[in-house]
Amino acid sequence: MFSRITGIGSFLPGAAVSNGDLADRGIETSDEWIVSRTGIRFRHLAASGETASDLALAASRRALAAAGLEASDLDLIIVATSTPDFIFPSTACLLQGKLGNQGATAFDVQAVCSGFVYGLTIADKFIRSGSHRRALVVGAEVFSRILDWKDRGTCVLFGDGAGAVVVEAAEQPGILASAIHADGTYNPILCVPGTVAGGAVIGDPFLRMDGQAVFKFAVRVLGEVAQEVLDQARLTTSDVDWLIPHQANIRILQATAKRLSMDMDRVITTVDRHGNTSAASIPLALDLAVRDGRIQRGAHVLLEGVGGGFTWGGVLLRY
Ligand code: UT7
Repeated sequence: MFSRITGIGSFLPGAAVSNGDLADRGIETSDEWIVSRTGIRFRHLAASGETASDLALAASRRALAAAGLEASDLDLIIVATSTPDFIFPSTACLLQGKLGNQGATAFDVQAVCSGFVYGLTIADKFIRSGSHRRALVVGAEVFSRILDWKDRGTCVLFGDGAGAVVVEAAEQPGILASAIHADGTYNPILCVPGTVAGGAVIGDPFLRMDGQAVFKFAVRVLGEVAQEVLDQARLTTSDVDWLIPHQANIRILQATAKRLSMDMDRVITTVDRHGNTSAASIPLALDLAVRDGRIQRGAHVLLEGVGGGFTWGGVLLRY
């Protein structure tokens, strides 16, 4: 028994917000700085009151339509998010309620920007065990809610959005190999070090990051985990048709491609249009490249995530 992606969908809230729009809102930055350091030109920001489960719902409906399935066909719902609607219930349970699918297993995965790769790996293992047959794996984020809009070093980098895939049991592999890792000793370099207790915010509720430390860590582990999943599948980088790394910074994508001796024309990039949408970035990029015809059935696609925790992982699939 194997698992295979049978439908993909995504959703971006509102209109694109340009770097110039951010400068107009009083952030001391410039289009030149943001583009040269990150490659980001636009991001989408959710409206007030628009939640991760709302974005997840829109993406999930598109993924279900692409798979030709109804919500009631699903027996597993996994939502990867670091910006859940509530402390509890999980965003996966809220999504399940909105989809009108009662009884399926539903839970969130908290692995920040690696969350989608974690979720897809978990769904693959559930399906291969025979316990479940049709999974929905979603990455959904409203990072705009946890940004300190006075910290120009972070607030210009992130955006909101959601992407979803339907994964079904199949006789031929879809997902060829996967690996997920974490090293909690790196937690201070990217974190939101606050919580709610006794009705008050305790600590700092905003995203904090040591950008240069994150940069170095990301390039190293994205290179390592790509090699790990390729070795598992007994393939090499020359067999990879498309690389989809987590979309954090164009310079991280370029450095990763270089480490893997891959040309940038085999790397799907959306960071220019979406910014960093954390757990949503990989399924958003996958959806775009499938819908615009670059990724065709049978293509080898390597997905890679890295994020707070620190967490990282890769999934190699035959689409
Ligand atoms: O999902 C993982 C999430 N995180 C990442 O992937 C982030 C990885 N790191 C990075 O992408 C880069 O480190 C950044 C884009 C965050 C920063 O680039 P950098 O080349 O490491 O710049 P820096 O932090 O060293 O800052 C250089 C200068 C500083 O000014 P001074 O001290 O040299 O005068 C900053 O104050 O750039 C300044 N700066 C800005 N200027 C204009 C920082 N943010 C901005 C800004 N606009 N938005």
